[in-house]
Amino acid sequence: MMAGMGLVIRPVRPDEFDRVGDLVVDAYAALGDLGGYEAVLRDVGDRSRSAEVAVAVVNGAIAGTVTFVGSVGPYAESHDPDGSWLRMLAVDAAFRGRGVGAALVEWCVRRAREFGRSRLVLHTTDRNRDAQRLYDRLGFDRAPDLDWQGQRGNWLRGYRMELSSTDGSVGWRISRAGGDG
Ligand SMILES: CC(C)(COP(=O)(O)OP(=O)(O)OC[C@H]1O[C@@H](n2cnc3c(N)ncnc32)[C@H](O)[C@@H]1OP(=O)(O)O)[C@@H](O)C(=O)NCCC(=O)NCCS
Repeated sequence: MMAGMGLVIRPVRPDEFDRVGDLVVDAYAALGDLGGYEAVLRDVGDRSRSAEVAVAVVNGAIAGTVTFVGSVGPYAESHDPDGSWLRMLAVDAAFRGRGVGAALVEWCVRRAREFGRSRLVLHTTDRNRDAQRLYDRLGFDRAPDLDWQGQRGNWLRGYRMELSSTDGSVGWRISRAGGDG
C-alpha cells in the first residue's frame, strides 16, 4: 500500500451492491467479452448471501472488491472439502497500481486462515498478465491441474496457495524468474 493512503477493507453494504456490480463488470469487460457471465458478475446481492463480498475503501471511495468463498457452496469452483476460493477481484482503473489489489488478495488469505482452510484457490484467464504477476508475487503457486476451458473457449489458469495452520504470515516472496505464470 502506498504511504499515506487510507485503505479499509470491510464487508459490502446492500446500498453499495449496484456500484460494486458496475465496478466488477467494467473491470472484467475491459479484458474481453463477458457473455452471460456479466449478469453473474453484476449480482453482488446473490453472492453476498453465500460468500463474503468485501470492498476496499480508499479515502471514502470504493476502490475495489473481492469475493471470498470460504467453503463448498454455490460460488465455490469445486467440491474440495478443504478449499476456499478467491473470486471477482476487481480494482477501479483509477485506483490501480497502488496496492489495493494486493490488499484484497491478502485479506482473502487471512480469511482462509481464520476459516482453518487448507488452501486458497483462484483462476485467471491466460492473457491476464497483471493478475498473474500479482498472484505470483503474493505467493500463489501455478496449478495446471486446476486449469479448465471456459464456455467461450478461453482457458482459465488455476492458482493455489497451500495454507499451514501454524503459519500466520502472508506468503510474500520475490517474483520467480522464468516461472510458468
Ligand atoms: C488485477 C488487478 C485486480 C490488480 O489491482 P491493483 O490494485 O492494480 O493491484 P496492485 O496495485 O496490488 O498491483 C498491480 C501491479 O501492477 C503495477 N501497476 C502500476 N500501475 C498500474 C496501473 N495503472 N494499472 C495496473 N497495474 C499497475 C503495480 O505496481 C503492481 O506491480 P506488479 O506488476 O509487479 O505486480 C486490477 O488490475 C484489475 O482490476 N484488473 C481487471 C480485473 C481483473 O483482472 N481481475 C482479476 C481477475 S483473475
